[in-house]
Amino acid sequence: MERVSLPAASTRLPAGDASSPLGSGALAPERYLDAAATAPLRETARAAMAAVYDDLAANPSSVHQAGHRSAAVVETARRDIAHSCGVRAADVVFTSGGTEANNLAIIGLALANPRGRHLVTTPIEHPSVLESCRYLERVFGYELTLVPVDGHGRVTAADIARAVRADTTLVSVGLGNAEVGTVQPLPQIAAAAKRVGALVHTDAVQAAASLPVSMHGEEWPGAQIDAMSIASHKFGGPQGVGALLVRAGLKVEPLLHGGGQEQGRRSGTENVAGIAGFAAAVRECIATVGTRALTLMASRDELIGRVLSEIPGASLTGDPRERLPGHASFVFAGVSGESLLVALDMAGIAVSSGSACAAGHDEPSPALLAMGRAPEEAHAALRFTLAAPLAARIIERIIATLRREVTGVNPRGSEAAAASAVRQAAH
Ligand SMILES: Cc1ncc(COP(=O)(O)O)c(C=O)c1O
Repeated sequence: MERVSLPAASTRLPAGDASSPLGSGALAPERYLDAAATAPLRETARAAMAAVYDDLAANPSSVHQAGHRSAAVVETARRDIAHSCGVRAADVVFTSGGTEANNLAIIGLALANPRGRHLVTTPIEHPSVLESCRYLERVFGYELTLVPVDGHGRVTAADIARAVRADTTLVSVGLGNAEVGTVQPLPQIAAAAKRVGALVHTDAVQAAASLPVSMHGEEWPGAQIDAMSIASHKFGGPQGVGALLVRAGLKVEPLLHGGGQEQGRRSGTENVAGIAGFAAAVRECIATVGTRALTLMASRDELIGRVLSEIPGASLTGDPRERLPGHASFVFAGVSGESLLVALDMAGIAVSSGSACAAGHDEPSPALLAMGRAPEEAHAALRFTLAAPLAARIIERIIATLRREVTGVNPRGSEAAAASAVRQAAH
């Protein structure tokens, strides 16, 4: 979902430093508006990882003292993450990220709790949810019900109640949608699922970093969530590490077999430094979640207001009210999202088109199609996701770039326009 293949023009940014795998084109954080893909790394996370590497990063299963220190890092991180997310330490299963957490939740819970062979989800879920369900359908003969969403990407508890049956094993509904930012009424959805005794999983990979979440805490009384997926890099931690928060005692069939780490639920040597960085990011992120949400919402709403009033043919995607605090997503009639992405990139602003691209083939976003958008519109999506409030001049630059591209004052993709945008970006 997150990955877009950029046309060749965007690779003509200033030449990289051959000695660095990243090159030299570092982007100022204020111009990086793609936090939903990966949030900027927090200094606390970097420091926590450095501390682990400075101390050998020994294998936490090793019996010597260095191994014990690594095991202590993992267990402290587990407690911190549990505390921040309103679960118990024993509920935290570390994974390689959100994708693995979703696979483990859906495949692992369904196979270990075979009360039926029926799954319920929505058509706008992340591919790691949809494809895990389809795997169970294909290989194990499960039946999959996709509950439709409305034009804003919202699913109702009443529709979930109509979809679940006595043989429903699992209901999986994402809390905050990555593409359009819509937040689902999860406590009500979970209650509808629980009425037939189904297990409830939520992909909270996008939402957990910007909304207070809890599986069975006070934030959502009676929400009764059995499993929740989170990913470190959405909190400002490193990529390649995440967790499935799953009610301890609930059986999960492991996907990875081997040394029996994570209480047999996920084998493999733990990513000790990554886990330490993950916990540091979660701690800091959740401690400030309420105030950050308010400041992000103010910037988000200003950007949405300006785009809708100043860019011809722009319309908001996702729910206007029930949406993630830093998430602004649009479609622009008759203009490809990819071309706008490239124009903004050349102007020094990193965003996402929000459309799914598989192996370099641009396809219309299935989520937008499921919300009733026409295929042309589903090709015309653009997503701004903020990690910090927007500076006024960044908003001006966004508006100027979009206006120029959408009204066609400068031919799209022309070398002259691109070069001038790069020059502007340098100021
Ligand atoms: C809603 C959602 N779920 C799952 C994932 C996958 O997470 P990861 O990239 O850590 O595998 C993403 C990634 O962007 C996401 O947005």
